[in-house]
Amino acid sequence: PRIVVLISGNGSNLQALIDASQRPPSSLAMTSEAELLTLPADIALVVSNKSKAFGLERAAKAGIPTWVHTLKPYRERHAADPDPTHAPAPRAVYDRDLALGILERVPNPQLIVLAGWMHILSPAFLDTMGATCPVINLHPALPGAYDGIDAIGRAFRDFQAGKTQHTGIMVHRVIPEVDRGDVVLSCPVPILPEDTQETLEARMHEAEHRLIVQGAAAVLAATAP
Ligand code: GRF
Repeated sequence: PRIVVLISGNGSNLQALIDASQRPPSSLAMTSEAELLTLPADIALVVSNKSKAFGLERAAKAGIPTWVHTLKPYRERHAADPDPTHAPAPRAVYDRDLALGILERVPNPQLIVLAGWMHILSPAFLDTMGATCPVINLHPALPGAYDGIDAIGRAFRDFQAGKTQHTGIMVHRVIPEVDRGDVVLSCPVPILPEDTQETLEARMHEAEHRLIVQGAAAVLAATAP
């Protein structure tokens, strides 16, 4: 199966997917942990909205085709001609072109993974992608806990205020409502008394790198023909 991964930054979750997809198929010698982190799929394309995203280098090193699709030209075109009757909002055109550009490069992908994609995908993307290809997102919070940006920071501040001793992460299907699609997998992440936001973030990323592989494998297994 072919996977398309969307990134905006460092790409450590992309790296986890690359490593898992390159592991030999399950063999007797495979430990159960490594078994859990094997992804029987090819990453056919990595898309970034930022030309300087380090994740693009990770993809290039792994021999994976990349595509940089930036929002700037769409904003500039809209600024030049803001009449909405001439063109829908820039984000909608951008998202539609994102989906068309993916399908042009990877005709029928089996899965789209948002791994640190910092844009909210509009219905224009999901409609153009069509219902055939599942889209999943990794969000650093438990279902419904901290939707939206700075989820880790908000959880850490609640911990400092004595309101919680843990947060968590989830992989969910992407629907137009932000961070609210069906949950594929989630897991709690403890916040320890001596934690700083940095040590919490490190623990969160560790957990993310496992969950994103398991979440992608689960969706592929569920939709396999
Ligand atoms: C991760 O924390 C992910 O949960 C969030 O964005 C971050 C991406 O990190 N959506 P990376 O670019 O994969 O290292």
